[in-house]
This record gives sequence, structure tokens and C-alpha cells, in this order.
Amino acid sequence: GRPDPCIMVLFGATGDLAQRKLFPALFELARQRLLPQHFAVVAFSRSEHNLEQFRAQVKEGLKKFARTQPLDEATWELLSSKLDMMTGAYDDPASYQRLREHLERIGERFGTQGNQLYYLATPASTFPSLLEGLSGSGLLYRENPEVKRPWRRLVIEKPFGRDLTTAKELNRSLAAVLDEKQIFRIDHYLGKETVQNILVFRFANAIFEPLWNRQHIDHVEITAAEKIGVEGRGRFYDETGVIRDMVQNHLLQVLALCAMEPPVSFAAEDIRDEKNKVFRALRPMVGSEVEKYVVQGQYRGYREEQGVGKDSRTPTYVALKTYIDTWRWQGVPFYVRAGKSLSKRVTEVSIHYKSVPHCLFNTSDTCQRLQPNVLTLRIQPREGIALSFESKVPGEDINIAGVTMDFDYANSFHKPVPEAYERLMLDCMRGNTTLFARQDSVEQAWAWVTPIIDSLDSGKGGALHTYEPGSAGPDAAAALLSRDGRRWMELKG
Ligand code: BG6
Repeated sequence: GRPDPCIMVLFGATGDLAQRKLFPALFELARQRLLPQHFAVVAFSRSEHNLEQFRAQVKEGLKKFARTQPLDEATWELLSSKLDMMTGAYDDPASYQRLREHLERIGERFGTQGNQLYYLATPASTFPSLLEGLSGSGLLYRENPEVKRPWRRLVIEKPFGRDLTTAKELNRSLAAVLDEKQIFRIDHYLGKETVQNILVFRFANAIFEPLWNRQHIDHVEITAAEKIGVEGRGRFYDETGVIRDMVQNHLLQVLALCAMEPPVSFAAEDIRDEKNKVFRALRPMVGSEVEKYVVQGQYRGYREEQGVGKDSRTPTYVALKTYIDTWRWQGVPFYVRAGKSLSKRVTEVSIHYKSVPHCLFNTSDTCQRLQPNVLTLRIQPREGIALSFESKVPGEDINIAGVTMDFDYANSFHKPVPEAYERLMLDCMRGNTTLFARQDSVEQAWAWVTPIIDSLDSGKGGALHTYEPGSAGPDAAAALLSRDGRRWMELKG
């Protein structure tokens, strides 16, 4: 059903994220009549705009980034009638006072019943003053089940800290103001259809789960390759690097969904509890292990990107090997890689099964050529799932060739796959925290990546390899697997 009536108070409404993702998601929700019946968006802006300019700017963005084009005018009229704005400063108590009065008026006009969702689509450096302003003025408050008051929710975007210490600080300041269930930490990977489907695939089918363990699986590979470079985000990226940008959040979340035990139910906390156990079981990497199990790279030309230091040592590529210390996964390596400026855009998980225990087809070199089964969960593009297996080639002799069973979203469902932000914004309004990162998992993930980042930063973590833009990454990444007698899935251009 439709979410409760509410006002979304948006900070950073004129920024890149709002333009590319948030307004297009709101537009799509409006088009599908999924927004609350009584709803308004109030943009809180630091720069002087009037409402008409603001609406025009949003519309321009939608013409570029909305999922359904050309823009449906009736939907635009509907969304635009719900857009409002006010100007203020983040560190000025009087601005929050004005915001409060403004929200009261808007609430009455739109019938939003006092419910408010605060969305911080702003750089992490603004969180402290925004939190202080919003809680100091009484706009944000801790919900108490004993006292009936309109709801309050807070949405924040990564980075949730830079390392374990700063992540804990952020969590402490959030917990000082709000209950965990009022906090929505966006990891947009969790909103992707294909990522959500990992759990459905595993737990709505009986045939895969019995094979989902160390008895049958040889290794697991998770790849997030991007073709694009840092694209105008050089300054941000140079301080961040690929481990903070992709591994700490998106890829560890995907890994957790693949590796977790069946939850007791599909309720948010049950799922989040099981995921957290995976984070806790990730084998820590310390000292010289970082050099052994982590390969980092930087694409040639990165240092010439705008905003990037001329002698930057920020990695734009990482490949690593890790283990999950549980009964299910003991001895099964998880190989994870992510990088920018690679030959191809592809995000996928591949589950590599063990070889047959004994080969019967010992004619010529057939046995050498038998390939183990691979189950590929294609997160993007060409969303789907594929299973490779061996088959007899028609003919007199026993000749064997690899074939694939392929499920493809587009062919099976004949409708476009929704954008992650559509689902996530709807879930914030519905108060469903399942697809958001919980405080303990965020800290566990930082606890695991921080020693890796520190060791690379201090120069003890091995070399920074250079790779050619448009390639498959540094050769050393291939060596990480060939040492174990394995190979990455090919990144053909
Ligand atoms: C973001 C990162 O979180 O995810 C970007 O900051 C990256 O650097 C992006 O490009 C990848 O998302 P997607 O949805 O394109 O895989």
C-alpha cells in the first residue's frame, strides 16, 4: 500500500545525487502512484533560489535522468505541486526555527499529519551540524512507543565515517538523538533488484541451498568492474579510494547476502542479524597478510584527473582474497575485486563448484577440459542468473562442451528493472529498514577494512600497481588467483 502521509525534508536538493537519483526516483514513484497520498518535499537550500527556479532546475534534471522518457507532463505537474523550498544555513539555530515554522505550515497545507523524513544528501562533513541543528530545535526526536507522536526518520548517505573510529563517532552521535529503527543508512546496492533477489533465489528454491557450502563450492568470486573513471568526482575520490568507496559497503553487503545463514524470518532484524554474523566471521587481515592477499592498482592517467593529487597513491582498483570462518564456509576462498576504468561494466557474483570427483570420459584430453559448474548472479548489466554445465556435443563420439542455462530479467518479466533508489525511498517512507545498513554491520565492515587501508596507507601493504585504462586491471590481480590454480571470470570488453 501507499506509505503514511509525510513531508520529506531534503538537504542537498540541488546537488548531483538529488539530480541523478533522488528526483528521478520520486518522479517514478509519482508516476506509479506510489507516493503517499498526502506528501510534500521541502528542499532546504543554502543558496538563494526561489521556488520557480528550483522547480525548473528539478525538471531539467528529470529530462536527463528520469527512467521513463519523454517526461510525462501529468506526473511532472503532480510532483511539482508537491515541491517546496526554503533557504537557510546549516549552522544557524534561527534557520531551524524557521524550518520548523515552515514545516508546520506545509504540513497543514498538504495534510501530512506531522510525519517527517529528513534526507541528508549532503557531504559527510555536514552531518554534525545538521544533526545538532535538527535535534537542538526539536525537529528530530527519539521515538518512544509509549508516547504517540508523529514519526521522525533520518536518511543518510555514505560515507558512514572514514575508518572504524570515525564510523563509531558518527553512530554515537546518531544514537544520541534517534533510535536505530529511525535511521536509514543508504547502501544503494541493497536496493538493486538483483541484489534483493539473492535471498529469494537462495531461500525460495529448494535445490540450491543444499549445495551452498564448503562441501560443493570451490570458491566464490565477486566482481564490480566499472568502465568509467572518477568522472568529475576526483577530489572526493582521491580522499576515498576504492576500498572505502565500494568494498566497505556495497561489496561486503553483497558478500553477506551470499554467505549468510537462512534467517528465522524475512523481518528486517532477522535478516540484518544473519548478515552481521557474516561480517563478524570475516577473517581479519593483519600485517604481512595484506601484502599477500590484497592487490591494489591505479589506472594510468588517474593523477591527471581534476581534483586528484599529482603524486596520489589512492587505489582505483583492488582485488583481494578472504575467508569466512564458519562451518559453512571453512576453506572456501572469497575473491573480491572492484575497479574503475576497466574494460567493461559488470557487477556479478560467481559461485564456482568443485570438479567432478572422477572423470569417466578419458578419451583424448576430455578430462582436462571438463569445466566445473559456475552459477553466476548477474547484478548488472543484463540482470539475470546463469548456470554453466557440460554437455555432450551431438555426434558419434563423446565430445563435451560447456553450455549455459540462462535466466534473463528482461526476457522473463518483460518490464524494466526498477532503480534502486525507487525501492529505497519507498522503504524509508514505509519505515522498513531491511534494505539499509545497520550500525553494528557498518562498524564490523569498518573493523575489517580499516587494517587493510592502514597498511596500504603506511606503505606496508605492498605495491600500488599501475594498469591501463580499458584493461582488466593489474597483472598482479591475475597472479593472486593463478597462485591458487584459479582464474577470474574474464572481463572481455
Ligand atoms: C557509488 C560509488 O557508491 O557506487 C561510485 O561512490 C560508483 O564510485 C557507484 O561508481 C557504482 O554504482 P552502480 O550502481 O553504478 O554500480
